[in-house]
Amino acid sequence: MHIHKYEKIWLWFGAVCLVGFLSIVGVSAYAMGNQPPSHMETLDPKTATATAPFDKPGLFKKGSKEYEAVMLAQAFTFTPQKLSVPVGSTVTFKVTSTDVVHGFQIPATNVNMMITPGYVSTITQTFTKPGKYLILCNEYCGTGHQVMAVTLEVTA
Ligand code: CUA
Repeated sequence: MHIHKYEKIWLWFGAVCLVGFLSIVGVSAYAMGNQPPSHMETLDPKTATATAPFDKPGLFKKGSKEYEAVMLAQAFTFTPQKLSVPVGSTVTFKVTSTDVVHGFQIPATNVNMMITPGYVSTITQTFTKPGKYLILCNEYCGTGHQVMAVTLEVTA
């Protein structure tokens, strides 16, 4: 069988591109200690509210502008319902669900997690602009899904 010269060139070009692309994706996904932001810690969803740190959900100061937000996602709200940090703060959100799968999204930021019962989802975000940020559920979780949101205030 004869393969035209240009066809061979383009076949090789395609193969090289594919290998290059997969290498870039494969390496960059795990470069600099990157890992999926969720599902590294597990806990029993039935006893989540009695298990530290979720027995005392809230916002905790960890450094001069560092906070940890321990949050519960439950149909159909988040606990705590109000959070406030000064502008420039870095907040690490640790979230779990006590019932069904919920979402955890802060529009206009990179914060977007799936909250699965039995797992702790963690993500860190620095808030450089003051304002009121909505934390909302973006996974359909039942009849009250559309009201499942709380506010994070970033004060100037
Ligand atoms: Cu929780 Cu939708």
